[in-house]
Amino acid sequence: MTVTASKYALRENDHYETEAWAVDALVRACPSISNSRVYEPAAGNHAIVDALGKYNVESITSDIKTYDQQHDFEADYLTNDQCLDVACECDWIVTNPPYGRQNRLAVKFVERALRVRRVNVAMLLTAKFDFGKTRRHLFADNKRFAGKVALLDRISWAGNGKTGTEDHAWYIWSAIGDPYNGPTMRWEARGAA
Ligand SMILES: C[S@@+](CC[C@H](N)C(=O)[O-])C[C@H]1O[C@@H](n2cnc3c(N)ncnc32)[C@H](O)[C@@H]1O
Repeated sequence: MTVTASKYALRENDHYETEAWAVDALVRACPSISNSRVYEPAAGNHAIVDALGKYNVESITSDIKTYDQQHDFEADYLTNDQCLDVACECDWIVTNPPYGRQNRLAVKFVERALRVRRVNVAMLLTAKFDFGKTRRHLFADNKRFAGKVALLDRISWAGNGKTGTEDHAWYIWSAIGDPYNGPTMRWEARGAA
Protein backbone atom coordinates (compact mmCIF):
# COMPACT_ATOMS: atom_id res chain seq x y z
CA MET A 1 0.00 0.00 0.00
CA THR A 2 1.37 3.37 -0.97
CA VAL A 3 0.42 6.66 0.57
CA THR A 4 1.93 10.03 -0.11
CA ALA A 5 4.95 11.03 1.95
CA SER A 6 2.96 13.40 4.11
CA LYS A 7 0.35 10.75 4.84
CA TYR A 8 2.87 7.96 5.28
CA ALA A 9 2.13 5.22 7.84
CA LEU A 10 -1.51 6.07 8.29
CA ARG A 11 -1.87 2.62 9.77
CA GLU A 12 0.37 1.04 12.35
CA ASN A 13 2.99 -1.24 10.79
CA ASP A 14 1.72 -0.36 7.32
CA HIS A 15 -1.11 -2.83 7.80
CA TYR A 16 -3.35 -3.00 4.73
CA GLU A 17 -5.17 -6.12 3.56
CA THR A 18 -4.87 -7.58 0.08
CA GLU A 19 -8.11 -8.30 -1.78
CA ALA A 20 -8.69 -11.93 -2.82
CA TRP A 21 -8.95 -11.15 -6.53
CA ALA A 22 -5.31 -10.03 -6.54
CA VAL A 23 -4.30 -13.42 -5.10
CA ASP A 24 -6.40 -15.22 -7.74
CA ALA A 25 -4.54 -13.18 -10.37
CA LEU A 26 -1.22 -14.34 -8.93
CA VAL A 27 -2.21 -18.02 -9.02
CA ARG A 28 -3.42 -17.70 -12.62
CA ALA A 29 0.02 -16.36 -13.53
CA CYS A 30 1.90 -18.86 -11.32
CA PRO A 31 -0.15 -22.07 -11.25
CA SER A 32 2.64 -23.91 -9.39
CA ILE A 33 1.49 -22.11 -6.23
CA SER A 34 -1.48 -24.49 -6.17
CA ASN A 35 -0.86 -27.51 -3.93
CA SER A 36 2.38 -25.97 -2.66
CA ARG A 37 3.72 -24.94 0.75
CA VAL A 38 3.64 -21.16 1.19
CA TYR A 39 5.23 -18.96 3.84
CA GLU A 40 3.53 -15.56 4.45
CA PRO A 41 5.99 -13.54 6.59
CA ALA A 42 3.88 -10.36 6.94
CA ALA A 43 0.52 -12.09 7.18
CA GLY A 44 -1.56 -9.31 8.77
CA ASN A 45 -5.08 -10.68 9.03
CA HIS A 46 -4.28 -13.59 6.70
CA ALA A 47 -6.00 -12.11 3.64
CA ILE A 48 -3.46 -13.70 1.30
CA VAL A 49 -3.34 -17.15 2.90
CA ASP A 50 -7.13 -17.24 3.21
CA ALA A 51 -7.43 -16.51 -0.50
CA LEU A 52 -4.85 -19.22 -1.23
CA GLY A 53 -6.91 -21.76 0.71
CA LYS A 54 -9.03 -22.75 -2.27
CA TYR A 55 -5.86 -23.72 -4.15
CA ASN A 56 -5.04 -26.42 -1.63
CA VAL A 57 -2.07 -24.47 -0.33
CA GLU A 58 -0.47 -25.37 2.98
CA SER A 59 0.41 -22.05 4.59
CA ILE A 60 2.66 -20.92 7.42
CA THR A 61 2.13 -17.41 8.76
CA SER A 62 4.08 -14.91 10.81
CA ASP A 63 3.94 -11.16 11.37
CA ILE A 64 5.58 -8.63 13.63
CA LYS A 65 2.19 -8.18 15.27
CA THR A 66 -0.98 -10.20 15.88
CA TYR A 67 -4.19 -8.51 14.75
CA ASP A 68 -7.40 -10.58 14.57
CA GLN A 69 -5.83 -13.84 13.37
CA GLN A 70 -3.38 -16.07 15.22
CA HIS A 71 -0.13 -16.62 13.29
CA ASP A 72 2.01 -19.74 13.46
CA PHE A 73 4.55 -17.48 15.14
CA GLU A 74 5.11 -13.77 15.73
CA ALA A 75 8.40 -12.38 14.40
CA ASP A 76 10.16 -9.43 12.84
CA TYR A 77 10.90 -10.90 9.44
CA LEU A 78 13.89 -8.65 8.92
CA THR A 79 15.79 -9.81 12.00
CA ASN A 80 14.43 -13.17 13.15
CA ASP A 81 16.29 -16.19 11.74
CA GLN A 82 13.33 -18.48 12.38
CA CYS A 83 11.71 -16.77 9.39
CA LEU A 84 14.52 -17.90 7.08
CA ASP A 85 14.44 -21.41 8.54
CA VAL A 86 10.72 -21.67 7.82
CA ALA A 87 11.16 -20.25 4.32
CA CYS A 88 13.75 -22.96 3.60
CA GLU A 89 11.04 -25.57 4.19
CA CYS A 90 8.58 -23.93 1.80
CA ASP A 91 8.07 -23.80 -1.97
CA TRP A 92 7.00 -20.16 -2.01
CA ILE A 93 7.23 -16.95 -0.02
CA VAL A 94 4.14 -14.92 -0.89
CA THR A 95 3.38 -11.57 0.71
CA ASN A 96 2.34 -7.99 0.41
CA PRO A 97 5.08 -6.56 2.63
CA PRO A 98 5.19 -3.22 4.43
CA TYR A 99 6.63 -0.69 1.99
CA GLY A 100 8.12 1.94 4.29
CA ARG A 101 9.39 5.33 3.23
CA GLN A 102 10.46 5.29 -0.41
CA ASN A 103 9.81 1.54 -0.45
CA ARG A 104 12.90 0.88 1.63
CA LEU A 105 11.25 -1.72 3.85
CA ALA A 106 9.89 -3.48 0.78
CA VAL A 107 13.38 -3.66 -0.70
CA LYS A 108 14.63 -5.25 2.53
CA PHE A 109 11.81 -7.80 2.44
CA VAL A 110 12.73 -8.83 -1.11
CA GLU A 111 16.46 -8.97 -0.34
CA ARG A 112 15.84 -11.13 2.69
CA ALA A 113 13.53 -13.48 0.80
CA LEU A 114 16.22 -13.95 -1.84
CA ARG A 115 18.65 -15.13 0.82
CA VAL A 116 16.74 -18.42 0.69
CA ARG A 117 18.10 -20.29 -2.31
CA ARG A 118 15.44 -22.96 -2.91
CA VAL A 119 12.29 -20.91 -2.66
CA ASN A 120 10.15 -19.04 -5.16
CA VAL A 121 9.14 -15.53 -4.16
CA ALA A 122 6.05 -13.46 -5.02
CA MET A 123 5.74 -9.92 -3.65
CA LEU A 124 2.90 -7.48 -4.21
CA LEU A 125 4.55 -4.09 -4.78
CA THR A 126 3.97 -0.80 -6.52
CA ALA A 127 3.78 -0.92 -10.30
CA LYS A 128 7.02 1.00 -10.73
CA PHE A 129 8.96 -0.81 -8.02
CA ASP A 130 11.29 -2.26 -10.67
CA PHE A 131 12.27 1.24 -11.80
CA GLY A 132 15.33 2.93 -10.37
CA LYS A 133 19.05 2.25 -10.51
CA THR A 134 19.28 1.24 -6.87
CA ARG A 135 17.14 -1.87 -7.50
CA ARG A 136 19.10 -3.34 -10.40
CA HIS A 137 20.32 -6.12 -8.11
CA LEU A 138 16.71 -7.28 -7.74
CA PHE A 139 15.78 -7.06 -11.42
CA ALA A 140 18.13 -6.36 -14.34
CA ASP A 141 21.12 -7.97 -12.61
CA ASN A 142 19.21 -10.79 -10.98
CA LYS A 143 18.88 -14.13 -12.78
CA ARG A 144 16.20 -15.19 -10.33
CA PHE A 145 13.84 -12.43 -11.44
CA ALA A 146 11.22 -14.38 -13.37
CA GLY A 147 8.52 -11.83 -14.13
CA LYS A 148 5.97 -9.22 -13.31
CA VAL A 149 2.18 -9.54 -13.18
CA ALA A 150 0.65 -6.11 -13.68
CA LEU A 151 -2.75 -5.70 -12.02
CA LEU A 152 -5.01 -3.80 -14.37
CA ASP A 153 -7.50 -2.99 -11.62
CA ARG A 154 -6.64 -1.11 -8.48
CA ILE A 155 -6.82 -2.76 -5.09
CA SER A 156 -9.19 -1.35 -2.50
CA TRP A 157 -7.15 -0.98 0.68
CA ALA A 158 -9.90 0.65 2.68
CA GLY A 159 -12.02 -2.50 2.77
CA ASN A 160 -14.99 -0.48 1.54
CA GLY A 161 -14.77 -1.17 -2.17
CA LYS A 162 -13.25 2.25 -2.90
CA THR A 163 -10.20 1.62 -5.02
CA GLY A 164 -6.85 3.17 -4.21
CA THR A 165 -4.96 5.68 -6.30
CA GLU A 166 -1.92 3.52 -6.97
CA ASP A 167 -1.23 0.70 -9.46
CA HIS A 168 0.37 -2.51 -8.20
CA ALA A 169 1.98 -5.64 -9.57
CA TRP A 170 3.20 -9.00 -8.40
CA TYR A 171 6.95 -9.52 -8.80
CA ILE A 172 8.17 -13.09 -9.07
CA TRP A 173 11.62 -14.58 -8.39
CA SER A 174 12.33 -18.24 -8.99
CA ALA A 175 14.33 -20.64 -6.86
CA ILE A 176 18.03 -20.98 -7.58
CA GLY A 177 18.55 -23.93 -9.89
CA ASP A 178 15.37 -23.40 -11.89
CA PRO A 179 16.00 -22.89 -15.62
CA TYR A 180 16.48 -19.21 -16.56
CA ASN A 181 14.41 -18.08 -19.54
CA GLY A 182 14.41 -14.37 -18.78
CA PRO A 183 11.58 -12.50 -17.09
CA THR A 184 8.06 -12.61 -18.51
CA MET A 185 5.39 -9.92 -18.36
CA ARG A 186 1.73 -10.68 -17.68
CA TRP A 187 -1.36 -8.61 -17.17
CA GLU A 188 -4.23 -9.69 -14.94
CA ALA A 189 -7.46 -8.08 -13.82
CA ARG A 190 -10.13 -8.46 -11.19
CA GLY A 191 -12.49 -11.30 -12.06
CA ALA A 192 -10.63 -12.44 -15.16
CA ALA A 193 -11.60 -15.99 -16.14
C1 LIG B 1 0.55 -4.16 3.79
S1 LIG B 1 0.23 -5.19 5.23
C2 LIG B 1 -0.13 -6.71 4.39
C3 LIG B 1 -0.74 -7.77 5.25
C4 LIG B 1 -0.99 -9.08 4.48
N1 LIG B 1 0.25 -9.54 3.89
C5 LIG B 1 -1.99 -8.86 3.39
O1 LIG B 1 -1.58 -8.83 2.23
O2 LIG B 1 -3.19 -8.73 3.68
C6 LIG B 1 1.89 -5.38 5.83
C7 LIG B 1 2.05 -6.28 7.05
O3 LIG B 1 3.44 -6.31 7.40
C8 LIG B 1 3.55 -6.43 8.80
N2 LIG B 1 4.91 -6.01 9.15
C9 LIG B 1 5.43 -4.75 9.20
N3 LIG B 1 6.73 -4.81 9.50
C10 LIG B 1 7.06 -6.12 9.64
C11 LIG B 1 8.26 -6.83 9.94
N4 LIG B 1 9.42 -6.18 10.15
N5 LIG B 1 8.21 -8.18 10.02
C12 LIG B 1 7.06 -8.84 9.81
N6 LIG B 1 5.89 -8.24 9.50
C13 LIG B 1 5.90 -6.90 9.41
C14 LIG B 1 2.44 -5.56 9.33
O4 LIG B 1 2.10 -5.89 10.66
C15 LIG B 1 1.33 -5.84 8.31
O5 LIG B 1 0.51 -6.89 8.76
